Amino acid sequence: MRRAVCPGSFDPVTNGHIDIVSRATALFDEVTVAVMINKSKKSMFTVDERIDMLTKVCADFPNVKVEAFHGLLVDFCRERGIHAIVKGLRAVSDFDYELQMAQMNSSLAPVETVFVPTSPEYSFLASSLVKEVATFGGDVSTLVPPLVLERLTARLAERSRE
Ligand code: PNS
Repeated sequence: MRRAVCPGSFDPVTNGHIDIVSRATALFDEVTVAVMINKSKKSMFTVDERIDMLTKVCADFPNVKVEAFHGLLVDFCRERGIHAIVKGLRAVSDFDYELQMAQMNSSLAPVETVFVPTSPEYSFLASSLVKEVATFGGDVSTLVPPLVLERLTARLAERSRE
């Protein structure tokens, strides 16, 4: 079985992430979306909330699993017999860091990184920008799935009441 992982913070999942996951499902038999647990990074959604949103928005892909991970990505891969990491490349500015990580990961374990070019309509999309635009009242309805828009709106409303 050809297995791959799509790792990330997914805080929250965007249409750009779903584009990459969906294309990975056509290339691999099983795709694990791995949500990084990073306690030092301030996030808008908890890991459980992010997993819940991802599980729901990926429900139509029969070969996608969603899991949390901490520590090294290569250890997560080794434990699950995964030999491919799928990453989206939005622009050449992503390339330097992604190449460095790909080379580091392949020096640590037998894993290849497969770069998938982001669809042009999502080339500017990042979770951090979605959060910033939504925080200041901008329309992000074309950038995230409806469920995520709902949760984002609710979280911002909660915060404004605090
Ligand atoms: O969505 P992000 O925050 O850009 O995702 C970054 C992620 C999770 C893919 C990257 O930070 C990662 O792989 N972290 C796991 C820790 C690790 O393996 N570090 C060594 C990378 S060479």
